[in-house]
Formats: sequence, structure tokens, C-alpha cells
Amino acid sequence: MSKPSKQSLLDKITAACKRRGFIFPSSEIYGGINGFWDFGPAGAQLKRNVRDLWWDTLVGNGHTGPDNEKFDIVGLDAAIIMNNKVWEASGHTTSFSDPMVDCRKCKQRFRADMLPETKCTEGGEHDYTDVRDFNLMFKTHVGPVQDDDSTAYLRPETAQAIFVQFQNVLTVSRTKVPFGIAQMGKAFRNEINPRNYIFRSREFEQMELEFFVKPGTEDSWLHWWLNKRMEWYVALGIKPDNLSIEWHPQDKLAHYAKACADIMYAFPFGVQELEGIASRTDFDLKAHAEHSGKISPYFDTETNQKYYPYVVEPSAGLDRTILAILCDAYCEESLTNAKGQTETRTVFRFHPKVAPVTVAVFPLLRNRPELIEKAEQVFADLRPHFRVQWDDRGNIGKRYRYQDELGTPYCVTIDFDTIGAGETPDNANTVTVRDRDTMEQVRIPVPEVTSYLKQCMNI
Ligand code: GAP
Repeated sequence: MSKPSKQSLLDKITAACKRRGFIFPSSEIYGGINGFWDFGPAGAQLKRNVRDLWWDTLVGNGHTGPDNEKFDIVGLDAAIIMNNKVWEASGHTTSFSDPMVDCRKCKQRFRADMLPETKCTEGGEHDYTDVRDFNLMFKTHVGPVQDDDSTAYLRPETAQAIFVQFQNVLTVSRTKVPFGIAQMGKAFRNEINPRNYIFRSREFEQMELEFFVKPGTEDSWLHWWLNKRMEWYVALGIKPDNLSIEWHPQDKLAHYAKACADIMYAFPFGVQELEGIASRTDFDLKAHAEHSGKISPYFDTETNQKYYPYVVEPSAGLDRTILAILCDAYCEESLTNAKGQTETRTVFRFHPKVAPVTVAVFPLLRNRPELIEKAEQVFADLRPHFRVQWDDRGNIGKRYRYQDELGTPYCVTIDFDTIGAGETPDNANTVTVRDRDTMEQVRIPVPEVTSYLKQCMNI
């Protein structure tokens, strides 16, 4: 097993993702649109699996934190477009910007802190203007009149709605500090230079938790959440060696943060941020309390104190998590086929928890009703337990290769032995189960296939 060279790895993953229906360029038939991507059948399922794992891991009652402290996390699904005052209070209207320069010669626009290494397309070096700030929020208008009063923004992060709804959620949840509010959903940033496939896009999904704690306890919660979030990525099947933690230096912290650590992943284009875990103090709640006049301090019944809770925020990107999973799982193997020729097998070695398909069912031949009938029975048995795909096209070797590239952990083949018409009568009512990673095949009695596969996949 080998990983291709780093330069070509992302191109190969991109090509495999297109071939197997994970990711397509948005509006491709019209030439695409920079910074936007569509997730095809396999990608949509992969995304859904990761999304569900995030939500199910976090949202619920009775979690246990540091010092065995019990806490709850509740969910929220807020609107993408909010009152403009939200963005004024949060500081996004004035300061959610990146430094930008233009090249006077080629007229291209670049992020000033990410200048290209390539020469100007008009020849020689780029001729840059002075640096200016570029606000990243996408503007739109609400209602039929397009003027300043109707201007609205697509949310650049999911977090703010959580702060804005803090009072309502606290009232209905019958919970107490420490507790969390989790939200996932689309966010939009008019990035100056979208790049590195789905790593930096203009439309993406965030999975954010705002965790409200008693002031003074935020440091231990920050470290606790950092560990928990690292464990989550490992549980998705990402190799721990590819993950690392990077603390922000004090002079590089965002204006609202007292401390921040990023969980980093070794992408083919370098070690980059997957998730940020910030200690946001009471900045946001106080800002919205001041601007709206509607958020009261929290009353702590244990200490009889009133305060605005401090916030620890694990903020993850779904698309970046998907890219990390794809990069981590992708591998190429050189195999010698039956004719003695060398061929390359491309495999996504996904953890069964996230694999879009967990079991593929193959009737050996599609034109033999007795095989199809038996395969349909096996398919129906497996369907309630796994994400099952039916495939009856082409020879079995090709079907295996297809499923390898889709990342399917197991394939089940129904052959003549299964229906008692093969050369080995002892194999009647058994199927072949083939393991994606070892490529080994074993015969398993039909009534035991479900339990066998559950055991193999540990699910
Ligand atoms: N509420 C805090 C916040 O939004 P952020 O570091 O700007 O913090 C959090 O974003 C996460 O969202 C990042 O770690 C990343 O995973 C994801 N993210 C941010 N910008 C992105 C982009 N342009 N494309 C894809 N994912 C992005």
C-alpha cells in the first residue's frame, strides 16, 4: 500500500471523488462557479454520516465533564438570514474582513497574506496596490425593494444565532450552567481566493457548539473540549499521526478571544486548520445584551451570583472534515492480476461509521432469476442494519474495484454455490464476504451474514 506523491495526491483525490460521485464542481455544465461545490450521491451520504455523528455525540442530556460535572447540550436550527443588527453587535459589519490587494497589470485580486508564488499572467512580477480591507459577508436584499434598508447578509458563521437565542433557549431548556447549544448548517463567506478544493469555499457547513460556563472555569473547559474534539476525529477513523494542535499566540487572537487552539490536519497541501476551539469570554452575550437590551445576566442558583456566562466554542467545518476523511482514507495499491500484469487499485479506506455504503450485494449474474431472487433476499436481510448497495453490472472483479473506490468495507456475492447449484454442495446457503482492505474472501452461512458483518465492522 502506498500514498502517491504529495503534489499529485489532491488531484488524484479530486478525480476519484468526481468518478465515484462524492464531489462535483457546482454548475459544471455552465463552466462552474469558483468556490462552490456539489456533493453527489456518495458525498451527500458521507456528509450526512459525519453530520449525524457530530450531532449524536454532542446533543443530549447527562454528559460528564471535568471533575465529573454533569451537563446538557441542546440543539438549535436558526435562520441563515438575520436582522442586520446581529452583525453590527457582533462586529462582523465593521471587522469581518480579510486584507486584499489588486495586481495593476493582470487585474486579479489576492488575499494580502496569501500572495501567489506564480508570476503575473501579463509577464514579470505582480504590481500590487496598497492593502485594503475586504468584508467577507455576502450581501442580499430582503423583500421587493433594493435599498440600504433592505440589505441583509448571509450568515458567515452559525455561532451568532446561538448567542442571539441564548435567553429563549435557556428559558425553555430547564438547564443550568454549564451547558451547551449546538448548531450546524450552511455559512457563507465571499473568500477572496477560494482554494485547495473544498478546503476554502464560499459556501460551506459549520458544526458549532457554544458552551456556556461559569467565569473562572473556562480554562479547564477549553482543555477538556480540545481533548474531546481530538477524540472525535480519531473515532471517525482519521489517523492520530495526521492530527495536531496549534495554539494561537496571544498577539494573533481574534478580538473576542482570550485563548484559542486549532485542531490541525496534515492535508496534501500542508498542515491546516480543521477546527478552532476558542475561549470567547462573555464578549458575545454582553455585546448582544448591550445592543438589544434583551439578554439578562444569568442567575446562578448555587452561588446566588449574577453573571454573563463565559463561552468555550469548538467550531468545526463539515467540508474540511470531509476533505480530511477523504485524504486520510485514500490509497493506491499495486497488484498483480491473473494475467501477471501490474495494476493499480484505488481504495478509500473509510471507517465503516462514515462509509457511504457499508455493504454491497452482488448476484454473480444478472440474467439468472434464481441468483437474483436469492440476492434480493440477502439484500432485504441486510438493509435494516447497513447502508446497502445492489450491483449486478459487469464482472465481479470490476464490481470489487468500483466498491473499493467508493470505500465500501464489505461485498457479499451470491453465486451458484449459494443456491445449491455449484460444485461444492457444502457451500449451499452460504455467500462470499469480501473484505475491502485485505481482499480476503470467506464463506458465511446466509442466516449469519448480518451478525458476521456487524462483528467485523464493530457496529
Ligand atoms: N464561530 C467561529 C468561527 O466561525 P472560524 O475559524 O472562522 O471560526 C470555524 O471557522 C471553522 O469553519 C474552521 O475551522 C473551518 O473548519 C470552517 N471554515 C471557515 N471558513 C471556511 C471556508 N471558507 N471554507 C470551508 N470551511 C471553512
